[in-house]
Amino acid sequence: MSDQRPAISALQVEQRTFPPPAGFAEGAVAADPGVYERAAADPEAWWAEQARALEWSTPWHTVCDRSDPPFFKWFVGGALNASANCLDRHLATRGERVAYHWEGEPGERVAITYRDLHERVCRLANGLKSLGVGRGGRVAIYMGMVPELAVAMLACARIGAAHTVVFGGFSAESLRDRVNDFAATVLITQDEGWRNGRTVPLKQNADAALEGAPGVAACVVVRRTHGEVGWTPGRDHDYADLVAAQDPACPPEPMDAEDMLYVLYTSGTTGKPKGIVHTTGGYLTAVAATHRMVFDLREDDVYWCAADIGWVTGHSYIVYGPLANGCTSVMYEGAPSTPGKDRLWAIAARYGVSILYTAPTAIRMFMKWGPEHPAAHDLSRIRLLGSVGEPINPEAWMWYREHIGGGRTPVVDTWWQTETGAIMVSPLPALSTTKPGSASRAMPGVSVEIVDEAGHPVGDDQGGYLVITEPWPSMLRTLLGDDERYVATYWSRFPGRYLAGDGARRDRDGDLWLLGRIDDVMNVSGHRLSTIEIESALVDHPTVAEAAVVGRADPTTGQAIAAFVTLRAGVAGDEALIGELRDHVAKKIGPIAKPASIVLTDDLPKTRSGKIMRRLLRDISEERHLGDVTTLANAEVVAEIAEMAQAQRSAEG
Ligand code: WT7
Repeated sequence: MSDQRPAISALQVEQRTFPPPAGFAEGAVAADPGVYERAAADPEAWWAEQARALEWSTPWHTVCDRSDPPFFKWFVGGALNASANCLDRHLATRGERVAYHWEGEPGERVAITYRDLHERVCRLANGLKSLGVGRGGRVAIYMGMVPELAVAMLACARIGAAHTVVFGGFSAESLRDRVNDFAATVLITQDEGWRNGRTVPLKQNADAALEGAPGVAACVVVRRTHGEVGWTPGRDHDYADLVAAQDPACPPEPMDAEDMLYVLYTSGTTGKPKGIVHTTGGYLTAVAATHRMVFDLREDDVYWCAADIGWVTGHSYIVYGPLANGCTSVMYEGAPSTPGKDRLWAIAARYGVSILYTAPTAIRMFMKWGPEHPAAHDLSRIRLLGSVGEPINPEAWMWYREHIGGGRTPVVDTWWQTETGAIMVSPLPALSTTKPGSASRAMPGVSVEIVDEAGHPVGDDQGGYLVITEPWPSMLRTLLGDDERYVATYWSRFPGRYLAGDGARRDRDGDLWLLGRIDDVMNVSGHRLSTIEIESALVDHPTVAEAAVVGRADPTTGQAIAAFVTLRAGVAGDEALIGELRDHVAKKIGPIAKPASIVLTDDLPKTRSGKIMRRLLRDISEERHLGDVTTLANAEVVAEIAEMAQAQRSAEG
């Protein structure tokens, strides 16, 4: 009996559908529905075709080497250079085209062409060589969203050094640990960053980190704010001085397809962060191909991925994918609320942004702020919207389409991970009939399955574990220095298949619905429920901007559903509203999903990449001592929420 119980019960029912807008398919990158079958018939041939869109100095002899699973290799024998593919390749045809329209938080505007970017990269590449970095070298980068961050990554790639970018919001200790684990010999940073009208002390943090990182011999410092910073003579180098002295040409190193391009650290459920290793040929192939197809990239598009380059979203879809495709991007340095809550929309209007890619957490924040902010700007050039990072609540999806997309644009909900390197599941905007909250289906050439505890595929509308069943070119190759943990984390639960760690279900039309991380699943009266569905039912209520749901231990039901809700701007919360919200969930999903308690709060605890930290809410709900909150973007809300939860418990007696 018990093994017939679904791995995760999926209860949400969403019936709205949106076919591609009339005319959208005309001239679209992926307009032939046969693309899925063609790729499925021979995935390696499909990926080889995508790889041929790049420039290789030596052709590969084997598309995918499967002799030592799960250590797969792609485009074996091939050689290429990532920076040459992102820059040099475009100079003859589009050298004067803008690569980045960069805007600083205080308001500076700079248009950087492909030719400018190429020269900047060459100069820094030569500068790095002068500091002893070459093929196989390791460089850490700790910066805000300034153009020099992209330049630094590409300069490393040019000379065959691997980079690790550490998000500029991380602390000195996080930086130190990553720099040491990576064995970087050079750190590139800046004096200070701009965020919310305040300065972020990057160099000061770097100095503190380097005290515990003896392997770093040189620190290159970009002057951004020109604020006063400490200086260690001999170790520290002014970026401007370093590059001014260099030759503006630097031949790209031909790299093996399987040479390491970068490591990006991502937190695991326990212990030390995992160093996700990405290599050159397969990664660049997949990010370029997915960027073209998912965003239906056309010659006159102005594309804006409003993420931070410190996350994989920025690596793949601000730097490597867009540049490999020679596209024009927008890059913005600062906070979306500075100087006003319409900053992003002012930027989008100014540059005529046609494609916007952002995260559900940002979309819910825009909802909370109200539609008058985007309405104040001309967003009529926008023709496509993307979402990434978390399951998107259907109402957030609808709001995004309506208020940012003018009710006319497709929305592509893209599922992927730091580990996957590139988008794995997404609609293709000219082909897919989308549904609010569904990520649609696996990309051409990608095979996913949803399985139960025993690894058997589940039926339609049954929740289960999302696995990827075949290797793909941009897959992580290992965890830096820890092959064993790589195998244990991703390949042991269901041998031969990659465990993503997310729950999902497939509906009768074959569309996938992501149900959140497996560790967030609740068990209420023997039903395993996903947090996202209940959260989406709450967000469906017109007063709610954002919701987080966790299971708290309950003597009767195993776990009881505890909800934390943020209301939209101007809504006052009271007991009556809480009762209404509970009933709303019962009506949308069923009585089993009715939250036992709802705490109204001004904000939810989030990681710095914007994901809701349900673990902390669980601790609060179960009155546990709150562990480390330093990885939070907004640690101050935690005490506030704990207090309100406590007050509610005493009120209930
Ligand atoms: C986790 C990976 C992918 C770049 C940013 C995050 C969640 C991501 C979606 C989506 C539902 C999503 C998953 C995944 N996630 N995109 N469209 N729908 N969930 O990278 O920090 O490595 O996080 O983010 O839980 O496993 P990451």
